[in-house]
Parts: sequence; structure tokens; C-alpha cells
Amino acid sequence: MRGQHDLRVSPEVAAACLEPATFRSVMSAFPSGVTVVTTLGADGAPLGVTCSATCSVSLEPPLLLVCLNRNSRVLSALVDRGQFIVNFLRDSRERTSSLFASSTMNRFETARWQPSRRGGLPLLSADSLAHAECDVAGVIDAGDHTIVVGAAVDGGVHDEASGPLMYWRRRYGRWPAEDDTRTVALTLAAEG
Ligand SMILES: Cc1cc2nc3c(=O)[nH]c(=O)nc-3n(C[C@H](O)[C@H](O)[C@H](O)COP(=O)(O)O)c2cc1C
Repeated sequence: MRGQHDLRVSPEVAAACLEPATFRSVMSAFPSGVTVVTTLGADGAPLGVTCSATCSVSLEPPLLLVCLNRNSRVLSALVDRGQFIVNFLRDSRERTSSLFASSTMNRFETARWQPSRRGGLPLLSADSLAHAECDVAGVIDAGDHTIVVGAAVDGGVHDEASGPLMYWRRRYGRWPAEDDTRTVALTLAAEG
């Protein structure tokens, strides 16, 4: 499996690039939510991988992207099937995130899931705030990762009350409680 597009950097740019450790530290300063990207293997088995490199791309048409390591076992299955779901994890779901980032391939033995109504793909509704079911719209190889652009064909919000699982500087966290949010807003207002 290889993508339709291959994004390359020139040798001059490659020679000028940051060291991996520096780049990792810089990028880990940027907080994100956590998703589990799921699909079905060729044999129909459910597959999923933890992914924080998830981003909204376009509203019309509704496009999003997930960025996965080229060696990801889930990546090849997802591209072959042409369909995937992005499950946006809710707070207190560190264990789900760790499970889908672990080296085991039996991740669904302990995960709660059900087949989605459209494509029968694995839906982690008990662990997520919302999900987007996507058809693969494009694949771009970018260095040691592959960007998969998905067109959202189904999905919805299933938990309005909870906050998201957050990830920042290689640590999990949670969205501030309502009181904390108000305190931050007041502090900012006072600072002018
Ligand atoms: C919080 C968190 C975020 C992650 N984000 C990504 C990501 O955006 N892209 C990626 O390729 N791997 C990411 N990973 C690592 C993968 O989940 C991990 O390498 C996984 O074992 C790969 O599984 P696979 O080979 O079955 O696809 C993340 C891990 C954690 C814990």
C-alpha cells in the first residue's frame, strides 16, 4: 500500500532540519485531544489505534485528517478498506488510549464497542464524546507518517456532558471544570 501523493523535502531543507528530540519537545508543547481511529481488517476483524494527530480540514465538503506512522498496522487496513471512524475520547479514558497505543493486536478483547450503522465499523461510543465515520478521500505520504484525509459521511455527538481527554507534554489531562473556566476568563479580563 502506498499513497496517491508523496510529499518530499529537498536535500537542502533536510540538512537544515531540527533534531528529532528538539522537534518532539516543540510539538509536545501543543495540546491536543485524543482519538482512536478504527476500521476493519480484510478478515473483518476490528482494528484501532490511538491518534492525537487529528485535525479538521474542510467544512464543505466535510473533511478531516488523521496522521499515522507509515508502519502502523491499522493504517494499511484503513487505506485498503477505504473507510474508518474517528472516535473522540472523553475524559477519564486514559486506559482506552493506552490500550489502543499498546503493542497488542488483541485490543478489542477488552474494549467495549459496537458496529456502526453505516459501515459496520467499530464504534467506541461508551468511551467517546463524538465520532466521525469517514470514506478515505486522499492519502499523502509525508516523511515517516502518512496523512489520511477522510470525508465525513456519518457521525454525531453522543455525550454533551463530559469533557475531552487531553494530551500535553506526554501527559494526559482534562478540560478545566466550569468554575475553573470562569476563573481563567475573569483573570484574563482583569489583566485587560
Ligand atoms: C496519546 C497518544 C497519541 C498518539 N498519537 C499518534 C498519532 O497521532 N499518530 C501515530 O501514528 N501514532 C500515535 N500514537 C502511537 C500509536 O498509538 C502506537 O504507536 C500504536 O501502537 C500503533 O499501533 P498500530 O501499529 O497497530 O497502528 C499515539 C499514542 C498515544 C499514547
